[in-house]
Amino acid sequence: MINPSSNAGMRDPDVTVRRILKVNHAGEFGAIRIYGAQILMARRLFPSIVPALEEMREDEIEHCRLFREAMPGRRARPCRVMAFWSLGGSVLGILTALGGRNMIWICTEAVESTVHRHLEDQLAFLAQRDPELHALIASIQEQELAHLRKAEDSQKRRGLRHALLLPVIGALTDLMIWLSTWGDSSWMRAEMTRAGRG
Ligand SMILES: [Fe+2]
Ligand SMILES: [Fe+2]
Repeated sequence: MINPSSNAGMRDPDVTVRRILKVNHAGEFGAIRIYGAQILMARRLFPSIVPALEEMREDEIEHCRLFREAMPGRRARPCRVMAFWSLGGSVLGILTALGGRNMIWICTEAVESTVHRHLEDQLAFLAQRDPELHALIASIQEQELAHLRKAEDSQKRRGLRHALLLPVIGALTDLMIWLSTWGDSSWMRAEMTRAGRG
């Protein structure tokens, strides 16, 4: 959609707001699947961490619901390839659980820290444009940070696997977000960098 008040080459902020909601909702859905698959595996392999994973999955379910509720008022719709997020999340959850307890936490750290960075960009973008959505994302970001801290604190060691996997899972998460926002995620980042310099 073209915003008549925008300059040529500029994006319509409403479109970006809809993309933010779409990708956040889909991302929460993916996170529910990651934790769901990990819980399934952990029940057999490492039952002691199941309660922590279940607690985080509860948060993601709530986030998913809140983003879904924020959609109609902004004429946003859920991602058309939710099945892709679902499958991606489940596969990542199963593979990391097979890699061991530490790998589960490495996965959580990678995903949550990537999400945190994107939420930072979104918050800067939304501050003036949609204060209500800004407040919602800020409150969700606090819980995502708690997930990140939990993942960091739960790792018993940080060896080669941490060094190798963190950037790979982080890059995969970045790619999913970039594809789902049609590249707007990198545009927002560039805009924030410019705003920071100005
Ligand atoms: Fe979440
Ligand atoms: Fe989270």
